[in-house]
Amino acid sequence: MATTSGPLLFRVLTALLSSTIQSPPATSPHHPPHRHTPTFSVTEYGAVGDGVQYDTRHIQAAIDACASGGGGRVRFPSGKNYLTATVQLRSGVVLEIERGARVVGGTRQGDYPAESRRWYVVLAEDAVDVGITGGGEIDGQGMSFVQRVDERKNVMVSWNATGDCVGDECRPRLLGFLRCRNVTVSDVKLTNPAYWCTPMPVGCSVFTVVRCGSNDASLHLVRCDNTSIQDVSIYGDFDSPNNDGIDIEDSNNTVITRCNINTGDDAICPKSSTGPVYNLTATDCWIRTKSSAIKLGSASVFDFKGLLFDNITIVDSHRGLGLQIRDGGNVDGVTFSNINISTRYYDPSWWGRAEPIYVTTCPRNSNSKAGSISNLQFINITAVSENGVFLSATEEGLLRNFKFINVDLSYRRWTNYTDGLIDYRPGCQGFVDHSVAGIIMEQIESLQIENMNMRWSDSNSKGWNTPLDFNPSTVNNISLLSFHSGLSTSSREK
Ligand SMILES: *[C@@H]1O[C@H](CO)[C@@H](O)[C@H](O)[C@H]1NC(C)=O
Ligand SMILES: *[C@@H]1O[C@H](CO)[C@@H](O)[C@H](O)[C@H]1NC(C)=O
Ligand SMILES: *[C@@H]1O[C@H](CO)[C@@H](O)[C@H](O)[C@H]1NC(C)=O
Ligand SMILES: *[C@@H]1O[C@H](CO)[C@@H](O)[C@H](O)[C@H]1NC(C)=O
Ligand SMILES: *[C@@H]1O[C@H](CO)[C@@H](O)[C@H](O)[C@H]1NC(C)=O
Ligand SMILES: *[C@@H]1O[C@H](CO)[C@@H](O)[C@H](O)[C@H]1NC(C)=O
Ligand SMILES: *[C@@H]1O[C@H](CO)[C@@H](O)[C@H](O)[C@H]1NC(C)=O
Ligand SMILES: *[C@@H]1O[C@H](CO)[C@@H](O)[C@H](O)[C@H]1NC(C)=O
Ligand SMILES: *[C@@H]1O[C@H](CO)[C@@H](O)[C@H](O)[C@H]1NC(C)=O
Ligand SMILES: *[C@@H]1O[C@H](CO)[C@@H](O)[C@H](O)[C@H]1NC(C)=O
Repeated sequence: MATTSGPLLFRVLTALLSSTIQSPPATSPHHPPHRHTPTFSVTEYGAVGDGVQYDTRHIQAAIDACASGGGGRVRFPSGKNYLTATVQLRSGVVLEIERGARVVGGTRQGDYPAESRRWYVVLAEDAVDVGITGGGEIDGQGMSFVQRVDERKNVMVSWNATGDCVGDECRPRLLGFLRCRNVTVSDVKLTNPAYWCTPMPVGCSVFTVVRCGSNDASLHLVRCDNTSIQDVSIYGDFDSPNNDGIDIEDSNNTVITRCNINTGDDAICPKSSTGPVYNLTATDCWIRTKSSAIKLGSASVFDFKGLLFDNITIVDSHRGLGLQIRDGGNVDGVTFSNINISTRYYDPSWWGRAEPIYVTTCPRNSNSKAGSISNLQFINITAVSENGVFLSATEEGLLRNFKFINVDLSYRRWTNYTDGLIDYRPGCQGFVDHSVAGIIMEQIESLQIENMNMRWSDSNSKGWNTPLDFNPSTVNNISLLSFHSGLSTSSREK
């Protein structure tokens, strides 16, 4: 039951969080902090850092020397731009990109491996005890991949000629950890990734959507265990369709803290394509995105279990807390606490309709099945938004045991985009006309609301006449304890 599993889950995750944070960041266990950590400077291995000549060979030589000596640090001295093709991070090696140093990803297809799934500027595969730190920057030169600037969506270069990658989204990403253990990424800036993943307008093929949703990111974890991401800033171009922030795919025991993400596409995005996602915490973050700030899915073939999102500020985003479950995986035990959200409408070619909270499960297409979502908690949430909360499943029994405790929702319109649409994308029913409401519910079993306050700005939200919109035959066992709804103070004063 939610009442007993909630606090337990919280304790378990808090224990995980503190044990990982307390460990020294970015230090190889081969060289505990009390011993001297061997350091290899890329300039000693021949890197020039003029931003024109490729330093790939020299950087890789420093990494290889470091790894074969048992691990340590590979330093990128400050004040230089290190242009590079893909470099391979090896077990035991931590890259120390000094403040004022920049690692710049190449923009030629030949700079990257043959297989598109390995297109990263920095790539770690099957590695243990690896990391990146130092206060510096990794830059993907994303603007060089713009073929034509377009008001709604830039037309981008796509490396699809070889056929290894098809479609219009074949571009390299920044940081990839594939099948790694004990990863620490701390104190780095990730800027201008080249892989822009555009949310598809209605009507695009499902396969495009799946591929798109499964491999774009500034920082991409795939089948990793025990990853710590701290003090990372991610900046992408907001006005063009862009990249995800951090994608946590098929990975367990991930701790994200003190991150600052300002990007076009989903900011923190757990996905399950080939395995489940267990034990993820994201805390103390600031997010701005033209897509979802937090999004589970839409790749959701396996389960999501034990996730905590706490102390997060979400501003100017298209969608706040999103679950887009489409492929049969189940979600169990997710807590969202102490979160302030502001969501607004943007161009509908982007997924999202200004929902502060969006929880949906439906089959992506006729070959998929819908997973269940149970034991969700929303505690201490404050939102100012242009649209209401949306909770929906296609079948009875798929949404179970939701709690909203101390939730303050203010509804106001401040853009001139059209409202009155439910957005089921990706897949499912696409856009559906539906009048706006405070919370729309479709198919829920057991929903507990305790201390909820809805405030309405009457001048700009005409037609928003329904605080709670549901059909009693599909929503069973709702309890409202201390529920208030009224005009907002500012609109009363007018
Ligand atoms: C999740 O975290 C708990 C508590 O730390 C741990 O017992 C459990 O093994 C973890 N699950 C996985 C799959 O690692
Ligand atoms: C991860 O780090 C811990 C602590 O240093 C170590 O015991 C463990 O063996 C490492 N895991 C792997 C897979 O190397
Ligand atoms: C390759 O990318 C271009 C440009 O985005 C696109 O128009 C074309 O359809 C793609 N071709 C294939 C085979 O994916
Ligand atoms: C996780 O990795 C960190 C280093 O990144 C290490 O210090 C810690 O002991 C590891 N924890 C486990 C449970 O392996
Ligand atoms: C995560 O934990 C689950 C459950 O124990 C396990 O099936 C899966 O293989 C783990 N994934 C990784 C990448 O370790
Ligand atoms: C919440 O996160 C912010 C950083 O975004 C941090 O400054 C603040 O101390 C955190 N608050 C708590 C209670 O941990
Ligand atoms: C949310 O806003 C309230 C009131 O303005 C503030 O006290 C709180 O610290 C904020 N929390 C976050 C996570 O931004
Ligand atoms: C919610 O906020 C109250 C009051 O600020 C605080 O006492 C409580 O610990 C918070 N709950 C959680 C789960 O953070
Ligand atoms: C919407 O408002 C913006 C300015 O906020 C204005 O530039 C634009 O023309 C308006 N669009 C419509 C359709 O009214
Ligand atoms: C109704 O929901 C509450 C939790 O909100 C739960 O404790 C109770 O068992 C449910 N009752 C039924 C009949 O399902």
